[in-house]
Amino acid sequence: MTDMSNGPIPIILDTDGGVDDAMAIIMALNAPQVDLKAITVVAGNIDVDQAAYNVLRVLSIAQPKSVPLVATGCERPLVRPPFNAAGIHGVDGLGELHRFEDAAGMARYPILNLKPSESDAIDVLLEAARTYGQHLTIITLGPLTNIATAIQRDAETMQRVGRIVTMGGAVTVPGNISAAAEFNFFVDPDAAQVVMESGIPVVLVGLDVAMKAPLPRHRVEDHLQRYPTQVAQFIADCTEIYMAFYRDNEGFYGCYVHDPLAVGILIDPSLATTERVHLMVETAGRFTTGMSLADRRDRRDEASNPPNVDVCLDVDTERFWQMFDELLWQAIAISG
Ligand code: BDR
Ligand code: CA
Repeated sequence: MTDMSNGPIPIILDTDGGVDDAMAIIMALNAPQVDLKAITVVAGNIDVDQAAYNVLRVLSIAQPKSVPLVATGCERPLVRPPFNAAGIHGVDGLGELHRFEDAAGMARYPILNLKPSESDAIDVLLEAARTYGQHLTIITLGPLTNIATAIQRDAETMQRVGRIVTMGGAVTVPGNISAAAEFNFFVDPDAAQVVMESGIPVVLVGLDVAMKAPLPRHRVEDHLQRYPTQVAQFIADCTEIYMAFYRDNEGFYGCYVHDPLAVGILIDPSLATTERVHLMVETAGRFTTGMSLADRRDRRDEASNPPNVDVCLDVDTERFWQMFDELLWQAIAISG
């Protein structure tokens, strides 16, 4: 196992290639506290090949000094049919970028001739677990299918992983895709339950905290005006449809930044107030499939239901926005 006691935390970022995923990836690329070794891609917001293409698009725009490997993973949930969020993230999962043209009438986002690595995402996850062991943090921004598949293939190796920070679930608040469930858990509840039962330390960044940090549209546009860079333009473009969804359905013109918040809490766990709970994911509900159910009873049986998850229940939004600005906008201003 590689000795990594000092220096940035090695991370693997697992994503379903959507709009808030894109902002989260840019934050992780710009954060000196983490070393993004690879991006593994899963079906969720959009099919897995389009999601991988979206990740390559983000990398081509962010232009990091060191480009992480991008590996495609599971095409569908463990046992259920695929379920996407194209109605929220746009038909390409990234705000329908083909719509945008520059002043000369040329496509602002021309077709990319890039391909993900030939490596399989599950192999990449297992190899990282072997190499970095306890030092490795996996951050998941989509359904947990890739991680559950890696656990099912080689649980012993995956149990070496230091922690999994997961954007998913809704413990004390309603769901967003159904009354009970948050999208990532709803799409693959079976995978989410495999991860919760795995024994790997899990930090759950769910809607409990995500809904405390709405990003207003005007903030994106203000930044674009002040720093008219390629990255700022991209963020304004890719969030357009996503934010219109919130304007039309949730009563505010902006969006939640679920996935960036998970990156923020990975980087600085002190941003969140957590509670250690036994958490289960409903896999067979008539109305509650994908619900994250925490046993918060005083009298719970610790022997049969030991705590398995640190659930984030509150977040210091002021400090989070400061970090968001530093890693997204100010990095934009510097890298231009
Ligand atoms: C989650 O669902 C996806 O659509 C977002 O990218 C985020 O990961 C929020 O429920
Ligand atoms: Ca996502």
